[in-house]
Amino acid sequence: MHIKALYTGSFDPLTNGHLNIIERAAKLYDELTIGIIVNPSKKSMFSLEERKEMIGETLKHLDNVKVDCFSGLLADYVNENKFNVVVRGLRAAMDFEYEIQMAHMNARLFDEQVETVFLMTDPKYSFISSSMMKEVHTLGGSIEGLVPEVILNKMNGSIMGE
Ligand code: COA
Repeated sequence: MHIKALYTGSFDPLTNGHLNIIERAAKLYDELTIGIIVNPSKKSMFSLEERKEMIGETLKHLDNVKVDCFSGLLADYVNENKFNVVVRGLRAAMDFEYEIQMAHMNARLFDEQVETVFLMTDPKYSFISSSMMKEVHTLGGSIEGLVPEVILNKMNGSIMGE
Protein backbone atom coordinates (compact mmCIF):
# COMPACT_ATOMS: atom_id res chain seq x y z
CA MET A 1 0.00 0.00 0.00
CA HIS A 2 1.26 3.49 -0.90
CA ILE A 3 0.99 5.55 2.30
CA LYS A 4 0.34 9.29 2.00
CA ALA A 5 1.11 11.25 5.16
CA LEU A 6 0.44 14.86 6.15
CA TYR A 7 2.36 16.98 8.65
CA THR A 8 0.60 20.22 9.34
CA GLY A 9 1.07 23.42 11.30
CA SER A 10 1.49 27.15 10.90
CA PHE A 11 5.32 26.87 10.68
CA ASP A 12 5.81 30.59 11.33
CA PRO A 13 8.69 29.87 11.19
CA LEU A 14 9.66 26.24 10.59
CA THR A 15 12.16 25.18 13.29
CA ASN A 16 14.76 22.43 13.56
CA GLY A 17 12.25 20.62 15.79
CA HIS A 18 9.77 20.53 12.91
CA LEU A 19 12.57 19.56 10.51
CA ASN A 20 13.53 16.62 12.73
CA ILE A 21 9.95 15.31 12.68
CA ILE A 22 9.72 15.83 8.90
CA GLU A 23 12.97 13.96 8.14
CA ARG A 24 11.88 11.02 10.29
CA ALA A 25 8.33 10.92 8.89
CA ALA A 26 9.70 11.07 5.34
CA LYS A 27 11.54 7.80 6.04
CA LEU A 28 8.41 6.12 7.40
CA TYR A 29 5.94 6.96 4.62
CA ASP A 30 5.95 6.85 0.83
CA GLU A 31 4.82 10.43 0.45
CA LEU A 32 4.76 13.30 2.96
CA THR A 33 2.97 16.60 2.45
CA ILE A 34 3.74 19.61 4.62
CA GLY A 35 0.41 21.43 4.95
CA ILE A 36 0.84 25.05 6.00
CA ILE A 37 -2.19 26.66 7.57
CA VAL A 38 -2.95 30.18 8.73
CA ASN A 39 -3.85 30.16 12.39
CA PRO A 40 -5.92 33.36 12.79
CA SER A 41 -5.28 33.40 16.55
CA LYS A 42 -1.52 33.86 15.99
CA LYS A 43 0.26 37.00 14.81
CA SER A 44 2.37 35.97 11.83
CA MET A 45 5.88 37.01 10.83
CA PHE A 46 5.79 35.53 7.32
CA SER A 47 3.04 35.28 4.68
CA LEU A 48 1.86 31.85 3.54
CA GLU A 49 3.70 32.26 0.25
CA GLU A 50 6.95 33.17 2.05
CA ARG A 51 6.59 30.17 4.35
CA LYS A 52 5.91 27.87 1.41
CA GLU A 53 9.00 29.09 -0.42
CA MET A 54 11.33 28.88 2.61
CA ILE A 55 10.08 25.44 3.60
CA GLY A 56 10.39 24.16 0.01
CA GLU A 57 14.00 25.40 -0.07
CA THR A 58 14.78 23.81 3.33
CA LEU A 59 13.32 20.44 2.32
CA LYS A 60 14.72 20.17 -1.19
CA HIS A 61 16.96 17.24 -0.10
CA LEU A 62 13.86 15.12 0.61
CA ASP A 63 12.52 13.59 -2.62
CA ASN A 64 9.20 12.34 -1.27
CA VAL A 65 8.17 15.56 0.49
CA LYS A 66 6.04 18.34 -0.95
CA VAL A 67 4.71 21.58 0.47
CA ASP A 68 1.14 22.84 0.22
CA CYS A 69 -1.09 25.45 1.90
CA PHE A 70 -4.66 24.95 3.01
CA SER A 71 -7.40 26.66 4.96
CA GLY A 72 -10.52 25.51 6.77
CA LEU A 73 -10.99 22.22 8.53
CA LEU A 74 -7.98 19.91 8.67
CA ALA A 75 -10.26 16.87 8.28
CA ASP A 76 -11.73 18.21 5.02
CA TYR A 77 -8.26 18.70 3.57
CA VAL A 78 -7.25 15.20 4.72
CA ASN A 79 -10.35 13.49 3.31
CA GLU A 80 -10.29 15.39 0.02
CA ASN A 81 -6.62 14.55 -0.58
CA LYS A 82 -6.94 10.95 0.62
CA PHE A 83 -4.15 11.09 3.19
CA ASN A 84 -3.74 7.88 5.21
CA VAL A 85 -1.77 9.32 8.11
CA VAL A 86 -1.63 12.64 9.95
CA VAL A 87 1.72 13.04 11.73
CA ARG A 88 1.93 15.12 14.90
CA GLY A 89 5.01 15.87 16.99
CA LEU A 90 4.94 15.64 20.78
CA ARG A 91 7.50 17.78 22.59
CA ALA A 92 6.52 17.20 26.20
CA ALA A 93 3.64 16.07 28.37
CA MET A 94 2.08 19.52 28.03
CA ASP A 95 1.42 18.87 24.31
CA PHE A 96 -0.39 15.63 25.03
CA GLU A 97 -3.66 16.95 26.40
CA TYR A 98 -4.26 19.32 23.50
CA GLU A 99 -3.14 16.74 20.94
CA ILE A 100 -5.33 13.93 22.24
CA GLN A 101 -8.38 16.20 22.20
CA MET A 102 -7.65 17.19 18.62
CA ALA A 103 -6.93 13.60 17.57
CA HIS A 104 -10.25 12.38 18.99
CA MET A 105 -12.20 15.17 17.34
CA ASN A 106 -10.44 14.62 14.04
CA ALA A 107 -11.04 10.86 14.25
CA ARG A 108 -14.77 11.57 14.13
CA LEU A 109 -14.30 13.74 11.06
CA PHE A 110 -11.72 11.70 9.15
CA ASP A 111 -12.61 9.01 6.64
CA GLU A 112 -12.18 5.56 8.12
CA GLN A 113 -8.66 4.77 6.93
CA VAL A 114 -6.98 7.85 8.43
CA GLU A 115 -4.74 7.49 11.51
CA THR A 116 -3.11 10.20 13.64
CA VAL A 117 0.45 9.13 14.44
CA PHE A 118 2.60 10.84 17.10
CA LEU A 119 6.37 11.11 16.87
CA MET A 120 8.37 12.23 19.89
CA THR A 121 10.36 15.36 19.14
CA ASP A 122 14.10 14.93 19.61
CA PRO A 123 14.78 16.03 23.24
CA LYS A 124 17.33 18.56 22.06
CA TYR A 125 14.47 20.49 20.42
CA SER A 126 11.75 19.82 22.99
CA PHE A 127 11.76 23.38 24.38
CA ILE A 128 11.42 25.11 20.99
CA SER A 129 8.31 26.82 19.68
CA SER A 130 7.89 29.11 16.69
CA SER A 131 6.75 32.02 18.90
CA MET A 132 9.81 31.64 21.12
CA MET A 133 12.08 31.70 18.07
CA LYS A 134 10.41 34.91 16.84
CA GLU A 135 10.58 36.59 20.24
CA VAL A 136 14.23 35.74 20.97
CA HIS A 137 15.34 36.69 17.48
CA THR A 138 13.41 39.97 17.41
CA LEU A 139 15.00 40.94 20.74
CA GLY A 140 18.50 40.21 19.43
CA GLY A 141 19.14 36.76 20.96
CA SER A 142 20.81 33.99 18.98
CA ILE A 143 18.64 31.18 17.59
CA GLU A 144 21.43 29.63 15.58
CA GLY A 145 21.11 25.84 15.45
CA LEU A 146 17.42 26.02 16.35
CA VAL A 147 16.01 27.01 12.96
CA PRO A 148 17.24 25.95 9.50
CA GLU A 149 19.79 28.30 7.93
CA VAL A 150 17.49 29.35 5.06
CA ILE A 151 14.91 30.45 7.63
CA LEU A 152 17.44 32.25 9.83
CA ASN A 153 18.73 34.22 6.83
CA LYS A 154 15.19 35.23 5.94
CA MET A 155 14.49 36.23 9.56
CA ASN A 156 17.67 38.35 9.61
CA GLY A 157 16.51 39.98 6.36
CA SER A 158 13.06 40.69 7.72
CA ILE A 159 14.48 42.46 10.78
CA MET A 160 16.90 44.52 8.66
CA GLY A 161 14.03 45.44 6.33
CA GLU A 162 11.91 46.82 9.17
N1 COA B 1 9.34 21.49 17.06
C1 COA B 1 9.22 22.79 17.31
N2 COA B 1 8.05 23.39 17.57
C2 COA B 1 6.97 22.62 17.59
C3 COA B 1 7.01 21.25 17.35
C4 COA B 1 8.27 20.67 17.08
N3 COA B 1 8.42 19.38 16.84
N4 COA B 1 5.76 20.76 17.45
C5 COA B 1 4.98 21.79 17.74
N5 COA B 1 5.70 22.91 17.81
C6 COA B 1 5.24 24.25 18.14
C7 COA B 1 4.89 25.06 16.95
O1 COA B 1 6.03 25.77 16.51
C8 COA B 1 3.82 25.97 17.49
O2 COA B 1 4.45 27.08 18.11
P1 COA B 1 3.69 28.48 18.30
O3 COA B 1 2.46 28.21 19.11
O4 COA B 1 4.68 29.28 18.99
O5 COA B 1 3.36 28.95 16.90
C9 COA B 1 3.16 25.16 18.59
O6 COA B 1 4.05 24.13 18.88
C10 COA B 1 1.88 24.55 18.20
O7 COA B 1 2.07 23.82 16.99
P2 COA B 1 0.86 23.19 16.25
O8 COA B 1 0.07 22.32 17.14
O9 COA B 1 1.35 22.59 14.97
O10 COA B 1 -0.07 24.45 16.07
P3 COA B 1 -0.35 25.26 14.81
O11 COA B 1 -1.09 26.47 15.19
O12 COA B 1 0.92 25.49 14.10
O13 COA B 1 -1.30 24.29 13.99
C11 COA B 1 -3.30 22.91 13.60
C12 COA B 1 -2.43 23.67 14.59
C13 COA B 1 -3.07 23.34 12.19
C14 COA B 1 -2.96 21.45 13.66
C15 COA B 1 -4.75 23.11 14.05
O14 COA B 1 -4.96 24.46 14.39
C16 COA B 1 -5.76 22.74 12.98
O15 COA B 1 -5.97 21.59 12.71
N6 COA B 1 -6.38 23.75 12.37
C17 COA B 1 -7.38 23.58 11.30
C18 COA B 1 -8.77 23.85 11.81
C19 COA B 1 -9.37 22.60 12.38
O16 COA B 1 -9.50 21.58 11.73
N7 COA B 1 -9.75 22.67 13.65
C20 COA B 1 -10.32 21.57 14.37
C21 COA B 1 -9.23 20.72 14.97
S1 COA B 1 -9.92 19.35 15.84
